[in-house]
Amino acid sequence: MYSRIAGTGAYLPEKVLTNFDLEKMIDTTDEWIRTRTGIERRHIAAKDEATSDLSEQACRAALDAAGLTPADIDLVVVGTCTPDLVFPNVACLLQERMGMSGAAFSIEAACSGFVYSLSVADKFVRAGQATRALVVGAEVMSRIIDWTDRETCVLFGDGAGAVVLEASDDAGILYTDLGADGRYRNLLYADSGVSRVKEEGETTLLMKGNEVFKVAVRTLEGMVDRVLADNGLEQGEIDWFVPHQANLRIIRATARRLGLPMERVVLTVRDHGNTSAASIPMALDTAVRDGRIQPGDLVLMEAFGGGFTWGATLVRY
Ligand code: ACO
Repeated sequence: MYSRIAGTGAYLPEKVLTNFDLEKMIDTTDEWIRTRTGIERRHIAAKDEATSDLSEQACRAALDAAGLTPADIDLVVVGTCTPDLVFPNVACLLQERMGMSGAAFSIEAACSGFVYSLSVADKFVRAGQATRALVVGAEVMSRIIDWTDRETCVLFGDGAGAVVLEASDDAGILYTDLGADGRYRNLLYADSGVSRVKEEGETTLLMKGNEVFKVAVRTLEGMVDRVLADNGLEQGEIDWFVPHQANLRIIRATARRLGLPMERVVLTVRDHGNTSAASIPMALDTAVRDGRIQPGDLVLMEAFGGGFTWGATLVRY
């Protein structure tokens, strides 16, 4: 028994913030941002748009693509580090709004939130504890960004992506690998929460960018080596690589390690920046809808993020 991806969906808020817009706000240039990160624009949620609102749009698109309705869903898992509320979790908010039933919970693993969620939902489906799951990655990162900090604010954006997972006798998710190392907690974090609050000011994302960069590249190279070895694959045997969209340079390094030309890498970072847990399902949706990813293709998704957390999923689409 496998769980297969039966439909994908994505949603980006309407408001676009380009590199040229940022040039007017902080001491930066379009050229610096493009050459260091590959990002040209990002989308910013409206004041009254929360993570559940973005998620709902992505979920409805994924259900339409799968030819299903909310009544067909009996598990909702949402990867996010920017939930609407402390509780109820975003999955419960979605469940109520869309009229779904079954278990509903969120997973907080920063940029790895979607691969963590997919891995957990896969186990529910394969164990027969859920028939069809909606798995979501959604973030409103703009709320925890310091818009005066040029080292972080140019990198992030908002968005949501979702997939429907369902039981299948044929291939689907073949393999998942998750990891974490909390010793790196201080390289990338949000500086307050609920039980640990700071004296004043709003929660802000802090990052030591070039240290994150080095650990990310090293960890992802180790992870893709493991994915290939564990699955008896040679370099170049993956059809499509759908990485977390944080930085074009990190993606290039990982693709090289996989022995893949950039034509077989799904790249969307240019159009929405780092949307944390949302980036992989949004990129997947792009390549499914434009016809690049076809049934039977071997697809590798991977992510790395705050914690540090990381994860990979190999899927026979
Ligand atoms: N515009 C112009 N100059 C800038 C900007 C900016 N927005 N930001 C920093 N600089 C300057 C720095 O001040 C520094 O100037 P200095 O040499 O005079 O001191 C110079 O640019 C170089 O700074 P570095 O930090 O060394 O630049 P680097 O090449 O490392 O690129 C970046 C920075 C893009 C943040 C890179 O380190 C990176 O991508 N790191 C990984 C971050 C990431 O991907 N995080 C997400 C992964 S985890 C997750 O997804 C949550």
